[in-house]
Amino acid sequence: MLNEKLHFYIEGLIAERNPLLMEMESYAKEHHVPIMELAGIETMLQLLRIHRSKKILEVGTAIGYSALRMAGAIKGSHIVTIERDEERIKAAEEFIHRSGNGEQITLIKGDALEVMAEVSRYAPFDVIFIDAAKGQYKKFFEIYADHLTEDGMIITDNVLFKGLVAESEIESKRIRNLVKKIDGFNRWLMDHPYYDSVILPVGDGVAISKRRGERK
Ligand SMILES: C[S@@+](CC[C@H](N)C(=O)[O-])C[C@H]1O[C@@H](n2cnc3c(N)ncnc32)[C@H](O)[C@@H]1O
Repeated sequence: MLNEKLHFYIEGLIAERNPLLMEMESYAKEHHVPIMELAGIETMLQLLRIHRSKKILEVGTAIGYSALRMAGAIKGSHIVTIERDEERIKAAEEFIHRSGNGEQITLIKGDALEVMAEVSRYAPFDVIFIDAAKGQYKKFFEIYADHLTEDGMIITDNVLFKGLVAESEIESKRIRNLVKKIDGFNRWLMDHPYYDSVILPVGDGVAISKRRGERK
């Protein structure tokens, strides 16, 4: 999205993470686990600091990288995070245990479309961070938006999907269908009667949504 030179310039200015997080970044690369891009996550963490978010719901833990970044950045925060992939759950549990920040993170194992009852025990949340199956973003948003505090925000990653949302010709049918779904979500979100949203072209595209006015 940004030109490549600027992208590397910005990444080069971001401070090194602690050794465990660096190990997780290498693990993710080696095992093809998609974790949030560096500039995207730094943007999100800064928003959380400004917003003073303490209770966070994350849809899509993977190996626990973003959960641990949030726990480390926001003192006193609690992150409830959902993951359905068993191998990733195992890796996340190990990394979280090693981090020493385990008391800040509650990992809910299962499909985010099925664990609503368990999640609701921890509601409401200051922030809901959606970073799971891209084709289901609208469902995740609709299911969990009710668990947001009055002043809360919803952050959604990958909404520009490597810039593909702006491409008119995509060869792979599977990718074309996924792009169509993300584009549909973006249009639905930007037109939402109860949320003000903005799409930031950082990382893989990050949408920030804030509820408009009071809940009825
Ligand atoms: C992009 S990764 C999450 C990356 C993580 N937030 C980070 O930045 O470190 C998406 C994860 O969501 C999980 N996932 C996808 N759909 C899900 C669902 N319906 N319920 C639970 N987890 C889901 C996938 O297994 C995958 O590990």
